[in-house]
Amino acid sequence: MKITVIGAGNVGATCAQLLANDELANEIYVVDILEGIPEGKALDMYESMPIRESDSKIFGTNNYELTKDSDIVIQTAGLARKPGMSRDDLLVANADIVSSCIRNAFKYSPNAYYIIVSNPLDVMTYVSLKVTGLPRHKVFGMAGILDTARYRSFISMATGYSMQDVQALILGGHGDTMVPLPRYTTIAGIPLTDILSADKIDEIVKRTAGGGGEIVKYLKTGSAYYAPAAAAVQMVESMVKDQKRILPCSVLLQGEYGYNDLVLGVPAVLGKNGVEQVIELKLNDAEKALLKTSADHVVTTNNEAMALIKL
Ligand code: APR
Repeated sequence: MKITVIGAGNVGATCAQLLANDELANEIYVVDILEGIPEGKALDMYESMPIRESDSKIFGTNNYELTKDSDIVIQTAGLARKPGMSRDDLLVANADIVSSCIRNAFKYSPNAYYIIVSNPLDVMTYVSLKVTGLPRHKVFGMAGILDTARYRSFISMATGYSMQDVQALILGGHGDTMVPLPRYTTIAGIPLTDILSADKIDEIVKRTAGGGGEIVKYLKTGSAYYAPAAAAVQMVESMVKDQKRILPCSVLLQGEYGYNDLVLGVPAVLGKNGVEQVIELKLNDAEKALLKTSADHVVTTNNEAMALIKL
């Protein structure tokens, strides 16, 4: 297993470290445009492997040629948010960065699976699909696991019950219009709606939608990276071990939920063949309306992005 992480910044370096700690790949290449940073961070991580008792080898480079024949590529390069910015404010810069990074990686790894992490996530995943021309099971985005993890953390904080027992699902775009589904949220099989009041659930849903912004406000110079990296690595693990976990991922819809040619967060089965199935839930009218608002927002941003890049 050879995995390339594009971007040696906060998210990329943390992804590489988690992948190596869990020995999910024999070789991990971290690529960045900055000189020295990917090499230095990779060597530092490499030197931590004897302590971690892992045989993963981590290399840093500016040269995509070394990433040749990667099995999985994780795209994290791009600008991160600063306070007051929405993910969409990154569109112009990141459409350019993501399309060029993916083009470079695809040249050397045409058979890889691509996990997109750069924001605005759904749109950057759409751009990556168009740049590579790959089918949807090979190019998809990380957002839902992160949003769900935030939601699960807040539910655990509010109830005092183990985070491990909180099961939840979030649909839609990765932004303020995301659609948490309290109806599909349980704690050890008990519906959340039996445990918390509607007001409390509403408060948690709102905090989840603004969860990324909450971290940006504290950090001031960048955005979250521990949870985003952990989420991307969970996707890799499900693929590498062919676990077939059902995880919320950003996938190109082809008729599911009534949408076509649009990347949205939906429950997907992840295995050795990437996205092996998209699971369609029976949404009620209120949930459908929330998903539509989210979809409309992503469509508008997609159109702006496609006008910015040359295919
Ligand atoms: N090619 C390769 N690397 C690049 C390029 C490029 N064209 N442009 C920028 N980078 C690198 C930067 O040099 C930097 O090392 O991308 C890295 C980004 O790292 P950070 O600034 O630390 O940002 P990070 O927190 O990792 O977020 C990256 O992930 O979650 C999303 O919204 C977030 O879009 C952002 C991305």
